[in-house]
Amino acid sequence: MEGGEARQRRGCRRNNGDSLLILMATVLVTGANRGIGFEYCRQLQQRGDTVIAVCREPSRDLESLGVRIEAGVDLTDAEAIADLAQRLDGQPIDLLIHNAGILENNSLETLDLDSVRRQFEVNALGPLRLTQALLPLLHRGSKLALMTSRMGSIDDNSSGGSYGYRMSKVALSMAGKSLSIDLKPRGIAVAILHPGLVRTRMIGFNPQGISPEDSVRGLLARIDGLTLENSGSFWHANGELLPW
Ligand SMILES: NC(=O)c1ccc[n+]([C@@H]2O[C@H](COP(=O)([O-])OP(=O)(O)OC[C@H]3O[C@@H](n4cnc5c(N)ncnc54)[C@H](OP(=O)(O)O)[C@@H]3O)[C@@H](O)[C@H]2O)c1
Repeated sequence: MEGGEARQRRGCRRNNGDSLLILMATVLVTGANRGIGFEYCRQLQQRGDTVIAVCREPSRDLESLGVRIEAGVDLTDAEAIADLAQRLDGQPIDLLIHNAGILENNSLETLDLDSVRRQFEVNALGPLRLTQALLPLLHRGSKLALMTSRMGSIDDNSSGGSYGYRMSKVALSMAGKSLSIDLKPRGIAVAILHPGLVRTRMIGFNPQGISPEDSVRGLLARIDGLTLENSGSFWHANGELLPW
C-alpha cells in the first residue's frame, strides 16, 4: 500500500532545477469515448498517467489506446455510478475530470422542458452525483476538473437562447464553486473550465473551432497549475479568467 505522502505528491508536475520532475497520476475521465474526453485520455496516457476511461459505449479509438475502460456508465443512472464506484474498489483517484455533457437547442419559441431537464441531469447533476460517489477515493492533493462552458457565464451571455445548456452549465459552475469551498479542508482543489470552441460532434465539427488537441493541451496546463489557493476559479483553456 502506498504511503499518504507518495499519493499526495502524485498528479503534480513541477520544475526541479533544470529537469522537469514528472509524477504520474491516476486520472478518471468521463465521456471518454470521443471528442474532448477521448483527447484527454490520449494526452494523459501519452504523458505517462494512468487513465480510467469512463463511458457509455467505448469507441474503437478508445479501445486502441490501451487504457482501462469502464463502460456502461450513464451519468443519469445512480445505479450505474454506484456500480462504477464498486468496480474501482478503493483505487485512489488523483484527478477526476467531469467531461461528459450534452447540448440540445432550446429556443423560447420551441421550448421543450424535458430537454432542459435532460441537460440538467447530464451536465449538472451527473458530475455532482459522481463526485459524491467517488469522494472516498479522493485524497489530500487530489483535483477535480469540471468541464463547464462560457455559455454558462451570465456576464458573457449576449445572445440569449440555449436555455437548457446555459442553465445547466451555470448550475455546474455553481456546484464547482461550492465543491471548491467544501473540499478545501480536505486538500482537494477544483477547476471550473471552458475548453474554447472545439471541433467536436457537439458543435457539428464547426471548422471555426480549435482542435481537441489544442484545447486539451491548454486544459491540462490549467489543471497542472491548479492549487488550493486558486481553487474555484473559472478559466478558459487559454488561461484567461472568465467572468461568472
Ligand atoms: N465542443 C465545444 O466547443 C465545447 C464548448 C464548451 C464546453 N464544452 C463541454 O466540453 C465537454 C465535452 O464536450 P465535447 O465537445 O467533447 O462533446 P461530444 O463530442 O458531444 O462528447 C460528449 C461526451 O459526453 C458523453 N455523454 C453524453 N451524455 C452522457 C450520459 N448521459 N452519460 C455519460 N456520458 C454521456 C458522450 O457519450 P456518448 O458517445 O455515449 O453519447 C460523449 O462521450 C462537455 O461537457 C461540453 O459541454 C464543449
